[in-house]
Amino acid sequence: MSDKHSQPHPAQSFETLAIHAGQEADPLTGAVVPPIYQVSTYKQDGVGGLRGGYEYSRSGNPTRTALEENLAALEGGSRGLAFASGLAAEDCLLRTLLTPGDHVVIPNDAYGGTFRLFAKVVERWGVEWSVADSSDPAAVRAAIRPRTKVVWVETPSNPLLGITDIAAVADVARTAGARLVVDNTFASPYLQQPLALGADVVVHSTTKYMGGHSDVVGGALVTSDTALADELAFHQNAMGAISGPFDSWLTLRGIKTLAVRMDRHSANASRVAELLVSHPKVTQVYYPGLPNHPGHEIAAKQMRAFGGMVSFRVEGGEEAAVEVCDKAELFTLGESLGGVESLIEHPGRMTHASVVGSALEVPADLVRLSVGIESADDLIADLTRALG
Ligand SMILES: Cc1ncc(COP(=O)(O)O)c(C=O)c1O
Repeated sequence: MSDKHSQPHPAQSFETLAIHAGQEADPLTGAVVPPIYQVSTYKQDGVGGLRGGYEYSRSGNPTRTALEENLAALEGGSRGLAFASGLAAEDCLLRTLLTPGDHVVIPNDAYGGTFRLFAKVVERWGVEWSVADSSDPAAVRAAIRPRTKVVWVETPSNPLLGITDIAAVADVARTAGARLVVDNTFASPYLQQPLALGADVVVHSTTKYMGGHSDVVGGALVTSDTALADELAFHQNAMGAISGPFDSWLTLRGIKTLAVRMDRHSANASRVAELLVSHPKVTQVYYPGLPNHPGHEIAAKQMRAFGGMVSFRVEGGEEAAVEVCDKAELFTLGESLGGVESLIEHPGRMTHASVVGSALEVPADLVRLSVGIESADDLIADLTRALG
């Protein structure tokens, strides 16, 4: 969109790209951070004489351009698009890729809102879906139908931290002539780069690790398929659920520290997982960093570290799980994840209430943690107390 941002940045390493890609010093003032262009429209130099391609802020805004170029660089794609939320990004993607009669394979563990989008919204347009265990490429292959256009994967998955072998499922999708979509929200591009492993499109709720501070809701799509990128950009403008300038700016600010945050999230989550494994009231721990996690080896192959999300089951059933959530203090009881502060929740009654009664139903005694970047010792002390 903007000429001044369009050159690829010479830096290669992730940490450097996170801080600089799409964010050259402002040409007018030298401001080292992209200004918040809080504006809806732009003066034209004669009819059609657009400065830098900007005409109206739904179609393009320089702060959003900076974020979109940054997102593309971090995921290794040719184009990034920023939306008002993760679900807005998913909605735009599905309406671009699918027509009535098409079929989608969705995973048996996924964010409840993504499942709700398929089951309660997309289905009404005549799109069919079926559920497969995406940690088993053969199960995905078996679920393919003649009109399968999309294979949807979340890895690690929400809330059971299942791991999908992205390269293996990309092969299954490619052979079937379907596109592989990977929701990379739990890992972030610092830990995992699905496009390099064969995915066609990466989806993010940038609300989570990308923003990183629980102060903004946003979503993103990144692809390296230039024809698809053009179609997605057309739909982004035609449908209108864009990321506003201030939200784009907050997300960009969060991304600058993504690498250091993810290292610390991962280190703290490993410590928390170790505590839980040894706790007598915990019956099962879901963390891909644990050697006995069924996806551990694949996670070790395709991820730089194992991330900040840990789920576990508690002896005593649903009431016991709810009680742990209620008793925690440093772990704040709340939905969402990926911020610097630790959160605890009961998926069955909170984030995943929309999957009750479906193939994605989660265990009633499950607790999900978003392990923040506070002192690991303090977090362990809080959990130990909450577990009684
Ligand atoms: C894995 C995952 N994908 C997508 C979403 C939806 O994103 P948003 O809440 O920004 O619409 C969420 C939200 O929790 C999520 O956890």
